[in-house]
Amino acid sequence: MQSIRKIWEVYGKPSYVDQIKVSGESKHKLVNLDPVHVESTDLGKWLLANIGEIENCKFFICAPNSWGEVHIDGGIPPRNCAINIPIYNCEQGLMNWFSNEPDDHKFISNENTKVHSTNKNRDIDFWVPAEQMVLTSPALVRTNIWHNIDNRDNNKHRVVFSFRFQDNPEFDAVKEKLSRFLFNKF
Ligand SMILES: [Fe+2]
Repeated sequence: MQSIRKIWEVYGKPSYVDQIKVSGESKHKLVNLDPVHVESTDLGKWLLANIGEIENCKFFICAPNSWGEVHIDGGIPPRNCAINIPIYNCEQGLMNWFSNEPDDHKFISNENTKVHSTNKNRDIDFWVPAEQMVLTSPALVRTNIWHNIDNRDNNKHRVVFSFRFQDNPEFDAVKEKLSRFLFNKF
């Protein structure tokens, strides 16, 4: 796997700034990765050495001024966590983790994705955010509770590159493995 620098050589490199916490107190949904490790290393090798085999990686692109569908990643069991790297236009738009649960449930599965969904996934008034972050630097994020991207205040496409790992490691297990490289400034 090529370094993410190859992407930046083609498309230009983003500048990372301190993560912005908008609301919430928990430290169990997102932790920052020191950006130097994704900028200056062969990212694939670094992730392999420090977390494990990468199962897949993909771009997530959120349309301008949009409310991303609320979901839980994966199938049964859900996907526990991901490493998310902001690529473009992530200075605005929120990653939300919600404290409440819908009373219905359905799976969406296609060639691109497999997620837990709900008829309330676009019901903005239903959801109660427990934590809201602006993803302005690389981070380990929890993906096994209801979450979404609220890009309503962002008039650009929000682009994130996301890595998932084989054997679906727990958020706390990955956090422990990366403990030398993590910091929170919020
Ligand atoms: Fe997700």
